[in-house]
Amino acid sequence: MDKGKPVDDVYQMLSESGYADKAIQYFQSKENFGVIEDADQVTDLTGPCGDTMKISLKVDGDKIHDAKIQVLGCPGAVASGCALIGLAKGKSLQEAAAIDLDALYRELEKMPDQKVHCARLAIKTLQKTLEEYHGRQSDRTATGEK
Ligand code: FES
Repeated sequence: MDKGKPVDDVYQMLSESGYADKAIQYFQSKENFGVIEDADQVTDLTGPCGDTMKISLKVDGDKIHDAKIQVLGCPGAVASGCALIGLAKGKSLQEAAAIDLDALYRELEKMPDQKVHCARLAIKTLQKTLEEYHGRQSDRTATGEK
């Protein structure tokens, strides 16, 4: 049996199937994974593939103070979700809503072609989260709540 450095089988499989190192790092570190207990908004979305993402946001003024994501899905979904949250944190709500597939792919560097829909699901989940947050803010304004 080989007693040398253990080979990271998952890394190797992902690398061979077309994931860049950066995308694999996001998948393996699960950076930005989790839930914010006292979130201002929590929204989930299930894609046509059946995978689900849930984003929680903490908003300060018009800025995303903190954000986390939970993903029940494939490595492409986990990598995309974690990278997207990293991009969105600290941005204004408007800037976060404008993050598109190109920007997310620049951050991930490369994923297999058949994983584009996973990145798209992450973006749609963030956009839905922001829309629902705005909706709740408008309802509060309409009812005079602070
Ligand atoms: Fe469903 Fe990747 S296969 S998000």
